[in-house]
Amino acid sequence: MTIDVFWRIPTHGEPSSHRSRKPWRGDWSPGNDSARKPGLGGGEDGTTYIDYLAEIARAAEISGFQGGLIPSFPMTDEPWVISAFLARETKTFRFMIPFQPGFLNPVVAARKTASLQRATGGRALYNIITGGGGPQQLWWGDSVPHDDRYTRTTEFLDVVRGVWKGGPFSYQGKFYQVEEAGLPYPLSEEEFPEIYFSGSSDAALASASKHADYYLSWLEPFAALRDKFSRVKERTDVLGRKIKCAVRVDIVARPTEEEAWEEIRRGFENVDPDALARFQGAGERSESVGAARQRDFRPATINSYKDLITESNIWSGFGLLRGGQTQGIVGSYEQVAERLDDLVQLGADAFILAGTPHLEEAYRVGEEVLPLVRGRPSGSAALRAVG
Ligand SMILES: Cc1cc2nc3c(=O)[nH]c(=O)nc-3n(C[C@H](O)[C@H](O)[C@H](O)COP(=O)(O)O)c2cc1C
Repeated sequence: MTIDVFWRIPTHGEPSSHRSRKPWRGDWSPGNDSARKPGLGGGEDGTTYIDYLAEIARAAEISGFQGGLIPSFPMTDEPWVISAFLARETKTFRFMIPFQPGFLNPVVAARKTASLQRATGGRALYNIITGGGGPQQLWWGDSVPHDDRYTRTTEFLDVVRGVWKGGPFSYQGKFYQVEEAGLPYPLSEEEFPEIYFSGSSDAALASASKHADYYLSWLEPFAALRDKFSRVKERTDVLGRKIKCAVRVDIVARPTEEEAWEEIRRGFENVDPDALARFQGAGERSESVGAARQRDFRPATINSYKDLITESNIWSGFGLLRGGQTQGIVGSYEQVAERLDDLVQLGADAFILAGTPHLEEAYRVGEEVLPLVRGRPSGSAALRAVG
């Protein structure tokens, strides 16, 4: 039994620490914070954001992570494209590519994935996302209702699997129809990508139980997460399949707990008051069950960073520091490793970790925390990331 550990690639840019809002690394020009340097064309010193992302991927690879999640939101770069760039900069680093199935034709998706597998020696994985609805969904031009989007996701994965080994494969679904399709040799020989699957609604669990290798959740209070993992495992058992579980979690680890909380305190004091007001408000209109669960774990009133401590070493304000999910682990190296062990005990088989700035924190977490994670008590567990 191995525990797979991934890092995260900040394709939305990032500042040098939680304590600063700028400069943005890789595309910052001294004296001109807002200037965007061109990609491979190079800036004044030839260093660009893509070089910075490559440094992070290499740091994660060197310090023992198996690969990285390359997020996909309206404000990020495009993960398929970034993966292809980073593949040439790394040797074993695996690319977890989030995408909404509805935005791609499944036969095209199968072909581009197989090409990426062939070019990289099988280093691509999927993070299947189905979209939170609301304004963000319309931003992508998608008005399909929540549960229908999951039907579409299931059909999409039916087709990608169907054509993968070469077909001929025919399918008559509500969203997709194909006739005698199949990948050509040699693409048809490639490994099918492992599927991580995100979404907290019932519709998400139904789709995940059919197709996912790993059910992926943001960090939640431990009891809620244990319950969520058991539900998805039960649903998958009924189908005669097995599913593993994974947690995406932010980390602030320091030699002592005091130093870790000091980092959070300074980060919290640097938060824009408008962002704090938005965080305490209703949030963006969205149908996402997962996002609503995250909001429910926050206190009603926030006067200090301490109000956001929900359990030992758990802080629910990470969304304030850099957007996105809110729950993360804060503590000494030993404490962070213990909390990760607790998550293994409650059913996690894999982690996607992150810390700001992603470059230095990849080394720190990889070198200081991961070696302390014990995994399963049987002693048979090995971190695939650091093996
Ligand atoms: C760990 C994790 C990572 C996610 N990453 C992305 C992402 O990169 N882009 C995105 O649009 N949605 C992302 N999501 C959102 C979900 O995939 C899903 O679309 C959303 O939670 C709505 O589904 P639900 O109502 O079933 O929760 C992520 C969710 C989780 C749990």
